[in-house]
Amino acid sequence: MKVVAFDEFGPASNLRVVEHRKPSCDSEEVLIKTRAVSVNPVDVKTRQGGALASKLRAHLPLVLGWDIAGDVVEVGSNVRDRFTEGDAVFGMICFPNPPNGYAEYVAAPASDITLVPTGISYEAAAASTLAALTAWQAFTHFGHLRSGDTVLIHAASGGVGHFAVQIAKHLGANVIATSSGRNKAFVESLGADQHLDYKSVNFEETLSDIDFCLETQGGKHFERTVKVMRRGGTIVNLPSGLEEDAKNAADTKKLQVNYFMNVFPSGNDMSELANLLGDGVITPHVSKVFDLSETASAHEQIETGRTVGKIVIRP
Ligand SMILES: NC(=O)c1ccc[n+]([C@@H]2O[C@H](COP(=O)([O-])OP(=O)(O)OC[C@H]3O[C@@H](n4cnc5c(N)ncnc54)[C@H](OP(=O)(O)O)[C@@H]3O)[C@@H](O)[C@H]2O)c1
Repeated sequence: MKVVAFDEFGPASNLRVVEHRKPSCDSEEVLIKTRAVSVNPVDVKTRQGGALASKLRAHLPLVLGWDIAGDVVEVGSNVRDRFTEGDAVFGMICFPNPPNGYAEYVAAPASDITLVPTGISYEAAAASTLAALTAWQAFTHFGHLRSGDTVLIHAASGGVGHFAVQIAKHLGANVIATSSGRNKAFVESLGADQHLDYKSVNFEETLSDIDFCLETQGGKHFERTVKVMRRGGTIVNLPSGLEEDAKNAADTKKLQVNYFMNVFPSGNDMSELANLLGDGVITPHVSKVFDLSETASAHEQIETGRTVGKIVIRP
């Protein structure tokens, strides 16, 4: 079968289509004919030699692809009560271990996946995995967003942000969302109550008393976010590598901060998301679909930092 692998960490051009033996599944897994895979900044940072590269170095040559959707073609002996051949499934698999998802077939732990709701395409399902889980877990596991809270969502036009706006509205929050002016209409279409163009407005000069913030930019941006929070408010920070100064500022305001949340695979959380997808509460925005042979171009798109919603690879 065809997979996209790289032998060394480095530029997107290191990603090559090669032939691998079709995997088999163990007793706790299902074998999936992959129909769509979505790409995240963590794929790109890892391929470049950052993020999970040191953890995964021993597994080179690496096949990334944590976000998969496809059809079950084989079912492990211990999970036959949960899945059947022919089921359409999706999930974030194996994270942060090697996923092997940029491939025509992938073996996935049954505990990481759930059924694709009726009427949802493979592309939409694959798009609604790591990024959607991050938004869901930020509001329900790592922080606790309450109905009536005012939530500030940065990078609301991106993969995580566009789910976060929809989920926060579903949870009853008042949503203030940032992106460039170019994406204002898109962010408003997701349900945001207020949009701020970060290129023309310093958000810390116009906002105050924020209950909850999903911080996507880190560094000095995190320190600016601290300024707009109410005392005792909550920040869930997505990028790694915050300085001590930023933490001290948050402590002074008695903020509840998750300094680096780590999204985790969860079939149960995937089922919650499947319900939201099936009910039309959340709708993924897939801005571009690439063929497997164009995986390097998909990585280069994420590298721009300007991706709207999600991009997907079709094996
Ligand atoms: N810790 C975890 O578990 C976890 C999980 C998922 C993601 N993450 C991290 O979270 C970050 C966001 O991930 P993602 O998948 O949403 O990324 P993404 O899809 O690549 O985000 C792109 C979006 O960010 C917007 N943006 C860029 N700079 C901005 C700024 N200064 N203010 C507001 N918006 C800005 C862009 O909008 P414009 O084009 O309009 O500027 C673009 O639409 C990444 O660093 C990722 O690695 C961490």
